[in-house]
Amino acid sequence: MLGNASKLAKMVKRFGVRGVLRNVPVWCRVAYDRYHERRLGIRTEGIIAVDELARIDGAQEHDAHAVFYQPWPYAKFKRMMRALPDVDPSRFTFIDFGSGKGRALVLAADHGFAHVVGVELFASLCDEARDNIERYRRKSGDTRSRIDVACMDAARYALPEGDLLCYFYNPFDEVVMQQVLAGIEAGVAAKPRRLVIGYANPVCHAVFDRAPTLRLVAANDSFRVYANHA
Ligand SMILES: C[S@@+](CC[C@H](N)C(=O)[O-])C[C@H]1O[C@@H](n2cnc3c(N)ncnc32)[C@H](O)[C@@H]1O
Repeated sequence: MLGNASKLAKMVKRFGVRGVLRNVPVWCRVAYDRYHERRLGIRTEGIIAVDELARIDGAQEHDAHAVFYQPWPYAKFKRMMRALPDVDPSRFTFIDFGSGKGRALVLAADHGFAHVVGVELFASLCDEARDNIERYRRKSGDTRSRIDVACMDAARYALPEGDLLCYFYNPFDEVVMQQVLAGIEAGVAAKPRRLVIGYANPVCHAVFDRAPTLRLVAANDSFRVYANHA
């Protein structure tokens, strides 16, 4: 307790009261994220540049269109789950396009999705995601959900059967996003079913806004949710 008080006093001295208060939301988010990392038994924090990933794994065709690795905060993910329109997780497959170290995959399984798929371009991130899935299984005892990691370019991924929740956390630019959406629309047209899209940090939202098959069902500063007309 005294230790915390003296740490706080040092920070006030260094950054001023306003500086400290400004950072409170960030510290709360970091503490909340760490709590969930421990609860789920996983390690998904950090930011990794595409150059660094390409150096480890070798160049990929869509490197130039990829966004760096960073996991989406736990609180925002939960908020997006609450905004979904009538999605029964036992009937939908959750697909994370650009799944990184697998935080959203584990969260989706924890949320009750029976089938979860991660699609990730970089092999080193796929390996970390598989490790995290194993850790989560050991910690939670969850043997019910099926969690697969497809280590490939999202633009080449073929959809599984059934209703789909497609999740994106700003994984790539508009060039790849257009190809991925075209693939999703073609798959759903070939086998009509429900499609819901959750797009976090929706930098390329125009791609989805102009898709005639989709309607916007929720939007705020952090994410957009779309659904098809099925
Ligand atoms: C911002 S991170 C999102 C991580 C994760 N979805 C989450 O919510 O915690 C974006 C991820 O997309 C991946 N990525 C970028 N381009 C890709 C592509 N063409 N195909 C598959 N994954 C890609 C990156 O390697 C990175 O792991």
